[in-house]
Order: sequence, then C-alpha cells, then structure tokens
Amino acid sequence: MVFPRLLLALPLLALTLESQSTPKYGAEFLWGTAISAHQVEGLTGGGQNADWYPFEHTPGNILNGDTADVATDHWHRYPTDFAIAKEIGTNTIRTSVAWEKIEPSPGAFSEDVIQHYRAEFELMKTMGLRPMITLMHGTVPLWFESRGGWLASDAPQQFANYAAYVVRRLGDLCDLWGTINEPLVLVGDGYLTGIAPPQLRSPLAAVEAAINLVLAHRLATAAIHEIQPTTVSDRPDLPLRGVGLVNGLDLFDPYDPDNPLDVITAELVTEFENWLIPQAAVYGTLEPKTLAAALAGLGHHTGNINFHRLAEKVNTFIPGNPVVDWIGVNYYTRTLIQFDFTGLPKFIVPAGPTGDDGHAIYPAGTERILRDTAKRFPLIPLVMTENGVADAKDQYRPQFIRDTLSYLDKARFGHDGLPPIDVRGYYHWSLTDNFEWQSGYAIRFGLTAIEYDQDLERLPRPTAEVYHQQILARQ
Ligand code: FCB
Repeated sequence: MVFPRLLLALPLLALTLESQSTPKYGAEFLWGTAISAHQVEGLTGGGQNADWYPFEHTPGNILNGDTADVATDHWHRYPTDFAIAKEIGTNTIRTSVAWEKIEPSPGAFSEDVIQHYRAEFELMKTMGLRPMITLMHGTVPLWFESRGGWLASDAPQQFANYAAYVVRRLGDLCDLWGTINEPLVLVGDGYLTGIAPPQLRSPLAAVEAAINLVLAHRLATAAIHEIQPTTVSDRPDLPLRGVGLVNGLDLFDPYDPDNPLDVITAELVTEFENWLIPQAAVYGTLEPKTLAAALAGLGHHTGNINFHRLAEKVNTFIPGNPVVDWIGVNYYTRTLIQFDFTGLPKFIVPAGPTGDDGHAIYPAGTERILRDTAKRFPLIPLVMTENGVADAKDQYRPQFIRDTLSYLDKARFGHDGLPPIDVRGYYHWSLTDNFEWQSGYAIRFGLTAIEYDQDLERLPRPTAEVYHQQILARQ
C-alpha cells in the first residue's frame, strides 16, 4: 500500500521543499523577538520612578484600569522567557533598560539595578541570545519629567549622560544599542495629542520636544562611540554592531490614488510620521518648510512657531557622516489617507483582515517599508526591530509570519530586477503578551500567551512553532 505512506510523507516533503526553496540568511542574521522593560518587568527595581507610574494610576488613562505594576514579572522570570526564545530558535532578543530604575534621581545610579541587568544579559549571552538593548523605550524618570521632560534645554545632555553610563557598565555584554524607541510616538502622544505623559497638546511643544529627541540621539550616539568605537561593515555576512535609532514606520497610501489631494496629503503624513525625525537625527538636516507644511497640512495651528530658529539647532550635517550605525524599522500596518476640507486628514483602515487593535494586517508592507527606508538611508544597514499582530486567538498570526518572512526574503535577496536590501535582522513583537501601554493587557501580541489569572503562566501559541520552522528553513 503505497498511498497511506505517501500521505504520511507529504508534510515532510512540503517542509523539505520549503526549506530548499527558501533563501539562506547566514549565521549572522539576527532572528529575534522583542520586548521592552516597562511592558514586562513590573515595579521591582524602581518602576515607581517612571513618568508612566502616576499616569497609569490615574483612572481613565489605561483601558480597564490596568497598570504595569506586575506586568509579566519578567524581572524575576527572565530565565523562563529566555528559554522560550531559545526554543523558538532565535539567536537574539531585543529588550530595553529602564532609565528610571538605573538613574532614580539625577546623577545617582542604582548599583543593584545595574547588577540585575548584568545578570540578565550574561544569561542571555550564555544561552546564545545576543542582546540588543534600547536605552529608552517609552518611559523616562519622573525627575526628568518634572524638569520639563523633552522641553528642558539640557534634556539631550541628560539622556546622553545616562546612555554613556549604561554603556560603560554593560558594554562588555552588549554591542548593539538602540538609542530611542519611536521618537515620533513619544512626541505625538506626549506633546501633540496628550494621550501619554506629559499629556501636553501643543504643536510648538511637540516640535521642541522632537528637536531635543533628535539632539539626544545625536549626543548619545557620539558618547557611545567614544566608549565603544564601531566600524560598520557593509558586508551582511559579518555581525552587525553599534548604535541604531528605532523608528515607527508604517505605510500611508492615498485613499483615492486618482485624487491629487489625497495623494499630497498621504505624502505629508508619510513625511511627518516616518521620515522627518529620523532624517534629522541621522543626517542633522531638518527642512523648516517641510516641517511647517507637514504640521499645517495635518491641521495643526503653527502660527507662533519659528521653524527656522528651531531647525538651526539641528542642521549640522557633515556630508558622509550619518550619526548612526543601523536603522531600526518597527513596521505594523498600512492606513489610507483622505484629504478633508475641515482640517485634519482622515485615517481610514483599508478593507481586509485586521488585528484585535483594529489595524490592517498587511504583510506585503514589510518589503515596501524596507525599500522605502533604504532609499532614505542609503548604505546604512537596516534591522526590522518590531513587527507583529494583535491577535489573542492566534488566528491570523501563523499565516502573517509566513507571509511577512516571504516578503522579507524578497527585500533581502531582491527579485524581478529590484535590488537586494541590506537587512540584518528581524525581531517579532512580541516574545510574550505584555502591558500594551494605553490598551493595558487587553491587546495580545505575544508568540507566547501570558495567563494573567493563572500566576502568569507562559503558554506558547501555535505561531511560536511556525516561526521556529521558518527560521530553520532559512538557515
Ligand atoms: C510599538 C511599540 C511597542 C509595542 C508595539 C505594539 O509601537 O514600540 O512598545 O507597544 O507598538
């Protein structure tokens, strides 16, 4: 009876064929998952010192009144989480260190917290998981906030001092640093729409905060390079090292591609949301007209802003010297943009499947955003530092990750006359469910479910195994 045997062999055959036809990424490619300190650690170590602590404890700010007080208790359970990352077959984890825990008051650093992170990253390395560490992911110390946050004139220097301290103390364990996670989200949520600390709603404050974040990235990168000099190789087969800026980059397409107003508005949104800050941070160039046009085009009142004066603070570009070793791309979704005569453009979710957070699931965007980023930052290696889908039932995630990685193949290896892009890593958000900012614990991005009612038990979702197989096929 040949038939049943053949049937049995079919899945194996499919796997072998997949593995044969899938391109090989080489040993240095970073296959990872991402988490961030505030979203997983819990309060131990000094979480009360974060700007988000009072914000979370004020009713109405976080869905269901959730707080990050316990989160996933990663502070104590990191060995379990690393073991899961290892089982998935990854070779790196992207996480962050909590500024508010390391520097609870200005210039005073906590030795206990440093020792904690040393133990954590040592274990990571022992397990064959290369640490990629972001220095600021979402939260700042309360003392920093009460001195004016990103509006204080010495804010960039404060951040650079902290960054230098961390790299002096942890630099023997890590040589892949991200300065700031998603600066535009910090500016937009904290200073323009006010849905995050410090809850300001002022276009002027937003522009000033943005410029200080740009300067903070530039100063911190210079400080890190003094401690840990890096030469970036243009050879993707060599290990990536050095300092990156991690950007939230999504796709904004015109709602009606035949309507020039929608087309122009989508371009403005893209310029503002994706490129203005990273270009200023990396190249030291900020075009006052573009910034003014983007803000005004997005319906913000900009009459009292002196764009030229602000841009002067940034414009220091020395040709050939980008202030970064790699660019981080956090890509999640695609939105359609419609011009609206009443002011603010409309953000429309395209037809098709959406995640639990209402965002469109659009894996083809992986290739598009990597190509767009490579055009803006030629010759700089890229890393996909976050990508994922809010999907508690894990119904879309298995296919999402397969599709996403097939578009990553297309970007990294080129096709149909399109050149290969220098992408050095892919990090899936997230290793586990976690505290998803304003959405609390309701939104689930994890390859591993956290059972919040059952002592925070970790239960890998089916996609964890799919990702494992996808990584194996590319090795
Ligand atoms: C990104 C954030 C990350 C996480 C994901 C879902 O914008 O960087 O912390 O919340 O969204």
